[in-house]
Amino acid sequence: MSASATVPARRARPPAAPRKRAIWRDPAGKVSALKIVTLVLLTLPAIYVATAWQVGALGARYVTEGEREIGEWTIRLLLLSLAVTPARFVLDWPRVVLVRRMIGVATACYALVHLAIYALDQKWRLDVVASEIAQRFYLTIGFVTLCLLVALAVTSTDAAMRRMGRSWKVLHRALYFAAGLGLLHYLLQSKSDISAAAVAVGWFLWLMLWRLLPRAWRGALWVPIPLGLAAALLVAGLEAAWYAGASHADPLRVLATNLDVSYGLRPALQVAVWSAVVLLAATLRRLPSLRHRAG
Ligand code: HEM
Repeated sequence: MSASATVPARRARPPAAPRKRAIWRDPAGKVSALKIVTLVLLTLPAIYVATAWQVGALGARYVTEGEREIGEWTIRLLLLSLAVTPARFVLDWPRVVLVRRMIGVATACYALVHLAIYALDQKWRLDVVASEIAQRFYLTIGFVTLCLLVALAVTSTDAAMRRMGRSWKVLHRALYFAAGLGLLHYLLQSKSDISAAAVAVGWFLWLMLWRLLPRAWRGALWVPIPLGLAAALLVAGLEAAWYAGASHADPLRVLATNLDVSYGLRPALQVAVWSAVVLLAATLRRLPSLRHRAG
């Protein structure tokens, strides 16, 4: 008998699955202060709302108020996750990409809590929740957004990324669509005053316009100036069109309110001011290298 017949042939071992990394470690396995701080910051809004709920600081309609607070934080986190790639270039901050996944997963969690509070508001009658979502357009949009956010969070793992290959990137572009739908949900439920939603739309436009820039310009210091101006003008136009459509307000008068700061800054001006803050932050971040070049 030949040796090969007596000694069982060794089976090739499947490649070892990469070891799971703790959430606070970077890809090199080192503890990351940035990730720990982000993790803590992401839990703060939930702790704040839960505490305010518990001590009765949300007022008589505390369930609705809690639902609104969490809905607003969902939108903020959604915009923050869209801001990670621009921040990497505009603020010259490559390590910020380490926290993108964490922010994305937190966004989906906040959206789920928002839905849970809605279900609580409906006394957990899930048939009512389902029929309301099916019948009310703004809730249907909210539900589609939620499904997209959960799908993106579930497929955000390294394993899913490897398994899905190229289609992963295509699926994760759905984040832009989800953000657009989430903002539409926000605008539609805002009823007579869309100011807060309009500011969020302004940020969304800023972040999407940045993605349309030629690659060579994406990290340029001056980029926040044209983006801020363009986003502010678009928001002013959106507000004028919205109020003209919803309450037949004269669009020119709505546009003119942007010049009157006696009642505070209108959404378009807020977007412009925040854009100036980004410009300042980008300048401060680059100050050492600018000084170095000058010296
Ligand atoms: C099934 C999914 C969803 C349901 C049933 C739902 C339900 C609601 C309801 C009933 C309100 C109005 C609360 C009120 O003022 O009476 C609301 C507001 C809001 N929702 Fe949702 N929502 C859903 C998904 C989402 C998602 C995915 C987002 C974010 C991406 C979101 C963001 C918001 C925001 C920002 C508000 C406005 C808060 C405010 O007025 O201050 N919602 N939602």
